[in-house]
Amino acid sequence: MTSFYLNGKSVTVDDDPSTPLLWVIRDTLGLTGTKFGCGMALCGACTVHLDGNAIRSCVAPLSRVAGKYVTTIEGLSNDLTHPLQRAWIEVDVPQCGYCQSGQIMSAAVLLEQNAKPTDKDIDEAMSGNICRCGTYSRIRRAIHRAAELSAEKRSS
Ligand code: FES
Ligand code: FES
Repeated sequence: MTSFYLNGKSVTVDDDPSTPLLWVIRDTLGLTGTKFGCGMALCGACTVHLDGNAIRSCVAPLSRVAGKYVTTIEGLSNDLTHPLQRAWIEVDVPQCGYCQSGQIMSAAVLLEQNAKPTDKDIDEAMSGNICRCGTYSRIRRAIHRAAELSAEKRSS
């Protein structure tokens, strides 16, 4: 048995400790917002947070998260009020949508570490997240917008 915190709640699963976290989240725990793309840490579709850092859940064994805090796209907010969610909707970022939860989870870590990122900061931080639909310019706009919304929230 392995226990960890998923989106703030304690969970215990009986999967083999070598199982990639992605499959534990999707198949065992039923949260399907986190996507499978490459399975080799190359595309970022499976990005989640582990103790506040972005990780590729397709290559992270379950054993790595024992006792730790995992956040998925479902845990970012339960009512679409997170500044990134608001900005993503406002800018209408997604095309097919497949890469987008991974994009948002990487962007969330960026904004935690850098409240006002430049285009260069954004491009560097997001370089591991591939979008086959080429939504990169809208992603950049939405991250700038989320930074503004976060600043408004802090000053209100
Ligand atoms: S599915 Fe994990 S990085 Fe591509
Ligand atoms: S929106 Fe289609 S892959 Fe990114």
